[in-house]
Formats: sequence, C-alpha cells, structure tokens
Amino acid sequence: MKIFSSVNDVKDLKKLLKEAIDFKSNPYTHSELGKYKTIGLVFLNPSLRTRISTQRAAINLGMDVIVMNMDKDGWALETRDGVVMNGTTVEHIREAAAVMGTYCDILGLRSFPKLKDKEEDYSEEFFNKFVEYAKIPVVSLESATRHPLQSLADLVTITESNLVKPKVVLSWAPHVKPLPQAVPNSFSEWMCAAQELGMVDFTIACPPGYELCNDFTNGATIVHDRDEAIKNADFIYVKNWSSFEKYGEILPVEKDWMLKTKDLENTNNAKVMHCLPVRRDLELSSEILDGPNSIVIQQAGNRLFSAQAVLKNILENI
Ligand code: CP
Repeated sequence: MKIFSSVNDVKDLKKLLKEAIDFKSNPYTHSELGKYKTIGLVFLNPSLRTRISTQRAAINLGMDVIVMNMDKDGWALETRDGVVMNGTTVEHIREAAAVMGTYCDILGLRSFPKLKDKEEDYSEEFFNKFVEYAKIPVVSLESATRHPLQSLADLVTITESNLVKPKVVLSWAPHVKPLPQAVPNSFSEWMCAAQELGMVDFTIACPPGYELCNDFTNGATIVHDRDEAIKNADFIYVKNWSSFEKYGEILPVEKDWMLKTKDLENTNNAKVMHCLPVRRDLELSSEILDGPNSIVIQQAGNRLFSAQAVLKNILENI
C-alpha cells in the first residue's frame, strides 16, 4: 500500500481488519518497523481523534512524528495552476507538498471540502495534487469526500462484535451547520465492500433530499423511514451530513431524526455509533450517549489500531 484514501486502496480487507484487531491485543509487535522513519501529519482543519490516534499509531511502530497545523502555522496555500499569486496566497502546493515530501517518509493530510462547488470537492483536487507533488506515500486523514481511517475503525468495531452478518444502519441526524458528506460517504463505501464479502447487511436511512452520491452507496438499501430502517438493527451509525443533491445545503426535515432510547425498542438491542465529535441532544441524545448501547468510545479507541495497521502496510512497502 502506498496511498490510503479509500477502501479501493485495500487489497485484502479481511487481512487488514485482522491486523488492526491483532494490534489491539499486541500493539508493540512491530515496534522496530518504523525506526528512522518519519511521518508528517498535515492538518488544514481541526482534529482530536485523527491527530492523536495517528501519532500514537506511528509511535507504536517506532516512527518519529511531525505535526503541522497548516491552517494556523503554515503559509496560505495556492492550489490553482497558472495564476499570478498577487493575492492572499503565499506558497503553492507544488512547492509545499514537494518540500514536506523531502523531510518525511510518509505524509498524512486532512483537508475538508469547501461545500461550495460539488465538482471541485468531488474531484478531490487538493488531495490528489498533494499526492502528486509529495512523491511519497500519503494517508488521508479526511479529505473532501472520504474519511478512510475512520471507516476502517468503524468496521473493526463492528467486526469485533463477532455477530454473524449484523444489520448495520447509517442514520442521518440533525445539525445546525452544513457538514461534509465525507464520513457517511466513506462509511457507506466500506460497508458496501464488507457487504459484498458477506460480512454485514447495510441500510442507509435519510430524509428525502439527503441521499448520498451513488458512487458510494452501491449495494446499500436506502430508505426514508428511519423507524422502519432500524427494525432489528444490530448497529446504528448516527451522523449528520448536508445535502449532496442541493450541494452543501441544510434542507427542511419534517420528523425528529435525533435518536433516543425509546427508538431502540424494535432494534436488536442495537449498539449506537458516532465518529465524534458529537453535538449532544442535537445529533444524538445524551441518554443514548451515556447509556449501555453507546459504543462511541470503543469506536474512537479503535482509530489507533486501524491507523497502526495502515501505517504497517505502508512501511512494509517503502
Ligand atoms: N472522528 C474524527 O475524525 O475525529 P477528529 O475530527 O477529532 O479527528
């Protein structure tokens, strides 16, 4: 593995899952693999889990870690080609990525979409240019359309339950701000891949107008009735996203989509997941987050072992 930006970069999904789960029991089995190797983690947006779990994963593999908060500490980046840089941008991504590529052995990049121009965001122009100019392996720490380290951790969390073909439901939730589709796109993409391998039964529940881009939902059952969707569910993944169709907009929604304990009555005592951060009692009720069905902390904990499995695979190919 040289680039990790989606499930399509994974040759053997079951093997990667096993490696992540093995790291959970034995985190230091490959503690020399990254000796004298450096990972640079470049953030253009805030992060708690991705930042710390990826740092710790690299440390467990013996790597050195450099974190660059590009949005605060770096020069304002220009991504367009052929423009005279006489405005606010100071450094072109061509030089910035290339220079960081000379200092590090692996780079990680977090770059959210602007949610203004669907074509621009869904072309993954920024991530792809960064990969092109860095010329070293790159891991997505969440790009415009995907969050693969999160999705791998999500699948690890579902897999370690040892349920046979659990019913997994991705359930839209309310929010006050327009959020990217990266987490639900990515979760759906990984669940569809797992479904093809017979590992899960996958449904997406969302209000009309909130359907995700078809490219990420191949094989998923898509319904608009949340209560119907979560019947007999083993896992409910709660997440807000803005509209893909009316790109980046918050559309009016008639029913109350915030999941509460009473909504779990017709489920298979469903475990409730969320990638975090979560806005309590807006996206997801406190009674669920503080109750026995929430596995959000276990899920976040699995970010570490998932990142470690991905970095191990990359290090083995350097
Ligand atoms: N879930 C997730 O990626 O968390 P952070 O944004 O805090 O990294």
